[in-house]
Amino acid sequence: MALYSEKVMDHFMNPRNVGVIEDADGVGEVGNAKCGDIMKMYLKIDDEVITDVKFETFGCASAIASSSMATELIKGQKVEDALNLTNKAVAEALDGLPAHKIHCSVLAEEAIQAAIEDYKSKKNEN
Ligand code: FES
Repeated sequence: MALYSEKVMDHFMNPRNVGVIEDADGVGEVGNAKCGDIMKMYLKIDDEVITDVKFETFGCASAIASSSMATELIKGQKVEDALNLTNKAVAEALDGLPAHKIHCSVLAEEAIQAAIEDYKSKKNEN
């Protein structure tokens, strides 16, 4: 079996939602100290619904594919539902990741959670 599924290759070669949202309502940046990869998520939120999401990932193919898939999964979702997105769901949506690449999908889960935390703390300031 190939190391990566077709979906991983597709999202790595043609990542969805790459970029920056200048006036984002929440921004989350996380990294993995071991591999040094970094992921940044930007959320635009309207009435507790994620209306737009973009990402920048400086990392491996699995991290890029995971962030791309994760943005597709949470776009249009309620904030509370996006908070429950697990790395397992991201990996499953990609038709699996090699065992030693599971931590790459964890970055996507953590980046989304960090961006939502940022959104919540900003909201409480207002
Ligand atoms: Fe670390 Fe993929 S090798 S995020």
